[in-house]
Amino acid sequence: MPVPLLDLKRQYQPMREEILEVIDRVCDSQYFILGPEVQAFEEESAAAIDVAHAVGVSSGTDALLIALMALEVGAGDEVVVPTFTFFATAGVVSRLGARPVFVDIDPVDYCMDPKGLAAAIGPRTKAVIPVHLFGQAADMDAIARIAGEIPVVEDCAQSWGADYNGTMTGGLGAMGAFSFFPSKNLGGFGDGGLVTTKSPERADQLRELRMHGQSGPYLHPTVGGNFRLHALQAAILRVKLPRAQGWVDGRRSNAHRYLGLFEEAGLTDVLGLPAAVDGRGHTYNQYVVRAPRRDDLLAHLRAQGVGCAVYYPLPLHLQPCFSELGYGEGDLPIAEQASREVLALPVFPELTVDEQREVVAAVSDFYRSG
Ligand SMILES: Cc1ncc(COP(=O)(O)O)c(C=O)c1O
Repeated sequence: MPVPLLDLKRQYQPMREEILEVIDRVCDSQYFILGPEVQAFEEESAAAIDVAHAVGVSSGTDALLIALMALEVGAGDEVVVPTFTFFATAGVVSRLGARPVFVDIDPVDYCMDPKGLAAAIGPRTKAVIPVHLFGQAADMDAIARIAGEIPVVEDCAQSWGADYNGTMTGGLGAMGAFSFFPSKNLGGFGDGGLVTTKSPERADQLRELRMHGQSGPYLHPTVGGNFRLHALQAAILRVKLPRAQGWVDGRRSNAHRYLGLFEEAGLTDVLGLPAAVDGRGHTYNQYVVRAPRRDDLLAHLRAQGVGCAVYYPLPLHLQPCFSELGYGEGDLPIAEQASREVLALPVFPELTVDEQREVVAAVSDFYRSG
């Protein structure tokens, strides 16, 4: 039986009627740019994250970009980012003419290593972007302590629903940047994003920046861009938002079940299962194991019809586009090792017990026969 890495059709089917109704509602209104759906979604998502302000934007990438624009990051500035993350975390820094400064990760949570952050901060550091990777918060107390006055922008693209000692991610730093890419714990029907902040002035500034820096009709005190969340996406996300916690619970119970199944199969000494660090509510946006002979296992699982993927095969400090920054192999070894060992297995909420057994059997089969 093939097991997909993710099957969004299973999530869609029970909401189909409701979603088609809201699409119809937006179409009838012919109100597509910002407006009541976006405003309502911003209020509802701010309440869910327990932050004062949420500003809907066009993608998670644009959420990060606009957050850095609000901090006036530009040429000559440095922004500290983990090297083991999706490209956008560092790409936005370069796009603003600033320099990404890469730091290594903690081998247990895969997030920014606070010791690396301490060494990377310098006189030009304008911001720090920890990433709550795979759906688990970074070590935010240590990061905040080390960053001091330097603003911390949380990359929450993978961490909808995750908390850190009871505070939701997105409410811990100066701003939080969320993605509604379809595969996220809360995903839209296309691109979308959100920036969160406690500050009303910052929220106003972000709203201006997403509208070409416009403070009033055709008046532009600053240069912004078109970073607006689409009304159709907002309306669809409003249907999904109340269900998001249930999906997170589903992922958690699947992760728990994997633990039992991998124990039964005698594989817990072979694989490095994801660690749920105390006080950080892992949401398993990805269920990532460390696997000996990872590439062979990947090929075996794919041949058996088991969906799996590598997040991420090449750390950002080794990406060709950053070659002029002068990093080389061996500079950030924990991330480099992770990039050789990690493998994401199916964990989506609608995954069945039989499918999980199938995944574990296929993994077990690989290590027994090899
Ligand atoms: C850690 C991280 N940051 C940023 C992004 C960018 O989000 P988007 O694809 O919505 O632009 C993603 C999305 O994959 C991500 O995983």
